[in-house]
Amino acid sequence: MTERAFEQIIHPVHLEYLRDLKYHAPKWIMDTEGYISEGEMWLLAGLASSVPAPLLIVELGTYRGKSTLALAYGSSIGSKVSIVTFDHHATFTEPDGEQYGAQDLPAMFRNFARAPDTIGQLIRPCTMDHRTIAKLIRPQSVGMVFIDDEHTPEAVHAATTAWAPALTDRAIVVYHDYNYAEIQDGIQTVREPGGVLLNLVSAVGSMGIFQYTIPTTTENV
Ligand SMILES: C[S@@+](CC[C@H](N)C(=O)[O-])C[C@H]1O[C@@H](n2cnc3c(N)ncnc32)[C@H](O)[C@@H]1O
Repeated sequence: MTERAFEQIIHPVHLEYLRDLKYHAPKWIMDTEGYISEGEMWLLAGLASSVPAPLLIVELGTYRGKSTLALAYGSSIGSKVSIVTFDHHATFTEPDGEQYGAQDLPAMFRNFARAPDTIGQLIRPCTMDHRTIAKLIRPQSVGMVFIDDEHTPEAVHAATTAWAPALTDRAIVVYHDYNYAEIQDGIQTVREPGGVLLNLVSAVGSMGIFQYTIPTTTENV
């Protein structure tokens, strides 16, 4: 992401504060097992710091909590909004051979417990398939969603369409592993005419950052 694109979303004071995180990342995040790099941690924290209350931040795919902790860290600098994070923790193997399962659940709780209470209390873990819950969430109550569950075009499509009604206008939608063809294929299918309105803000490392627009219909004009 260019510095300019980043500044369009993140408050300059938070940006200044977060620059420090790049050099002094908290040990309780760094020691957590996970799939985000230090730069991505900084990016997620920065984006999370920009989400205003009373909106929620939603994460799809907690694993052992590394990205969740980065989001909660950012939120603690910003409006202290809750991070609702989903993982079914079922035995599950990605097409690339990565394996996940029940053992990740106690590891996740251990990792959350190492964070300061002011950060841990922002995290709401949900051990369930996120798709069963999305339709129950109040419309326009989510200011940011971080999508990092299953890495197939079908799963990207399902996650995006399931959560779009919960998003507020200009909500931030971040896809991890955006550099994978499977993720881009999934995003392309949701952005087809009549689909979900997502504008690419920037692609940085393996993150694709979009902003969502609520479609204008005769009902909401
Ligand atoms: C790549 S890992 C998440 C990594 C984590 N965000 C990090 O940065 O450390 C993907 C996780 O998504 C979970 N998952 C996959 N499909 C899911 C679904 N439909 N609902 C909830 N969790 C799901 C898997 O169990 C796995 O733990």
